[in-house]
Amino acid sequence: MKKGKYPHHPDITDEMWKNIDAVIEEGKGKPGSLISVLRRCQEQVGYLPSTLLDFIGKGLSISTSEVFGVATFYSFFSLTPKGRNRVKVCTGTACYVKGIKDALVRIGDKYGVKKGETTDDRRFSLEEVRCLGACGLAPVMVVNKDVHGSVGSDKVIDILEKYE
Ligand code: FES
Repeated sequence: MKKGKYPHHPDITDEMWKNIDAVIEEGKGKPGSLISVLRRCQEQVGYLPSTLLDFIGKGLSISTSEVFGVATFYSFFSLTPKGRNRVKVCTGTACYVKGIKDALVRIGDKYGVKKGETTDDRRFSLEEVRCLGACGLAPVMVVNKDVHGSVGSDKVIDILEKYE
């Protein structure tokens, strides 16, 4: 596709569009290339906005609904932007019993974010997970690669405030 023909999207620069175009070009006509094209496009942008899925579908001559179907089926694809900090809160039994729900309410009140969402300023993405295997530390939250235990009550906010 020629320059100037790219759709407008605030998170996708011209440079990214060029790389995306090259990825699509490589995948064209190759059966089963959709997943690898999606993966490489997500590496470029950080997630897969609908404008991009549309563009990929057109480029590979695959219907947009099929592209959406694949992108939503695999958990490693994200259709929404991710925050700078990925917060995983454990809602497994031990953490539940020790009050993780209270921590989630506090996170929601403070940052206006719910499970599966990203804050408007993209500071945090919030996920709920089932047992992180650290039940002895319950309730547990992982921020990026840091494991935090006993995050009940206000402590959860004290911890998150350290992540910009
Ligand atoms: S239940 Fe939360 S770490 Fe196991």
